[in-house]
Amino acid sequence: MKQKKNNPKTGVFRVLYGSKSKIFLLICVFLISVFGILLSNWLMTSQTAFAKTDLLQPAPTQPLGYYDYFGKLLSPQEASQLVANKGLNPNNPISYQRIGAVKITKELIAQGEDIFFNRKISDTFGLQGVFGLGQGTNIISDEIGAAIANLRGQSTTNLKITLQKDLTIGSRTFPKGTVIPTGFKVQKGQVVALGNAPNGDITCAVCHASLSKDGKILAGVPNGELAIPLFIALSPNTAAGFARLNFNPLDPQYKGNGKTIIDSKGNKVQLPDPEKFEKAFDDAVLDVPFGNFESSPDGIRDTTQIPSVFTFKDHPYLSDGQFAVGPFAGLSAINNAVHSSEINLLAAAQLSADTLGIDPEVYIGTFLQNAAVKSLRLPEGVIVKPSEWLRGVIAPNPTQAELEDQIPVPGTGTYPNLRPSLFTYNGLVFSPNTGKPGDIASGPFLFANNAMSAFQNSLVPPANQTSENWQALNSNSVKRGAKVFEKANCATCHIPPFYY
Ligand code: HEC
Ligand code: HEC
Repeated sequence: MKQKKNNPKTGVFRVLYGSKSKIFLLICVFLISVFGILLSNWLMTSQTAFAKTDLLQPAPTQPLGYYDYFGKLLSPQEASQLVANKGLNPNNPISYQRIGAVKITKELIAQGEDIFFNRKISDTFGLQGVFGLGQGTNIISDEIGAAIANLRGQSTTNLKITLQKDLTIGSRTFPKGTVIPTGFKVQKGQVVALGNAPNGDITCAVCHASLSKDGKILAGVPNGELAIPLFIALSPNTAAGFARLNFNPLDPQYKGNGKTIIDSKGNKVQLPDPEKFEKAFDDAVLDVPFGNFESSPDGIRDTTQIPSVFTFKDHPYLSDGQFAVGPFAGLSAINNAVHSSEINLLAAAQLSADTLGIDPEVYIGTFLQNAAVKSLRLPEGVIVKPSEWLRGVIAPNPTQAELEDQIPVPGTGTYPNLRPSLFTYNGLVFSPNTGKPGDIASGPFLFANNAMSAFQNSLVPPANQTSENWQALNSNSVKRGAKVFEKANCATCHIPPFYY
């Protein structure tokens, strides 16, 4: 004790010596951090390419008559050369299709626009029969109808409804008289909001289009106010989408009146209590702010703001850059995912054991036991294997139910054992080919997805016509701002000309 007091230094050194490996580690961490900071600084400041581009240049536009070749834009001459190089006849349009080159025409863009605004997304079996999106919306259809009638034919950018009764969702109750801004855009003289069908189906436009103050459609502008979490939570079987958040149906806190099923290994398993599970999931969904949405069934709670879809030369897409393969630099793969891996809730069961650690039978059972349409629910008093109930009894033809308008990608196997690929996580491709004249999405392989790509690539952000903007332009403050933007290296991430 005494010695230590007299010679504290040796004490300190002894302690230091004793933990030398820890110190060595600390020094390493320090050096690596310094190196990281230097590297990031160097990367941020050495992007001279950005400094040279004119920050205020107009956005490029997609040229008509050109071809998309897996994200590369080819002039007609280049495309014809490529086709000839592959030993095909450049005078035959089919040759271009065979090599995967998509001709960008006015007609294709118009078809894409039609599909984007008017074609419902998802399979009816899953979204309406089991999940019950339309049934949920119906709960407040009187309120929506009254609000639209109150517009007296005028347009609105945010339809506000007044509850005519108490509304309970999850553990929250909204009393009668509560005013809820739905975010719905209603055009002049219309009785249904943009992107909605009267039966509860939705299209891309419900999230990816807006209205200007004077009631003009702004295609590609996100609906930043959309009460999509409310409509999802209102659905009677919202928990069928449990894989989108971090919910495990077998978590003991949901134990209760769940049905017992036989899982893939032949074991008896009790599913979660449908009421408890639904309530907990509704609460989680209602926590998501309006204008945001959880699009991937990856078991991760990572909701995102609905983005704009001014997509030309703006790849990689999505907040995490996934799907960067295939036609239009990945854009067609995303359009495909919206119809398939994102919304086809059942197809995710194929891989649920690997991706979520949840047995596929537990997945399907949880999905079905509280189905919106009662006849689809698991039977009373019998213990079944949910996939056998699904494909043996209630939906014997998967192509008409789970796979509506979707086909397995050649080479991925047979449903429900498809292998995922970078282009499609569930092995499925939205590619209806009914040939019916009324089916606007029907066409050759990937037609609808490519048409929507060509359409979204044709969109440009509307010009800012406000007086404030004119003033800023005239007083040169826009130019000064661009200089600050450049100096502060904002453009290393927010890349011109779109800055997303
Ligand atoms: C319920 C709202 C909703 C609907 C309906 C919807 N989307 Fe999206 N979309 C989103 C959200 C949210 C994201 C962002 C997801 C992310 O980054 O993870 C997104 C991202 C995108 C992107 C990427 C944009 C970029 O620049 O990164 C494209 C393209 C897209 N959607 C196209 C479509 C198409 C085509 C449809 C219809 C077939 C559609 N979406 C339907 C909500 C929606
Ligand atoms: C290291 C990359 C990076 C740099 C550098 C950067 N940003 Fe960002 N910025 C982002 C990301 C990522 C987001 C999206 C964050 C989110 O949505 O949660 C964002 C979001 C924004 C937004 C909100 C956009 C919206 O639609 O909500 C603005 C505005 C913005 N940044 C401006 C700037 C400015 C100005 C600078 C320079 C001073 C800058 N940023 C520098 C990465 C960056």
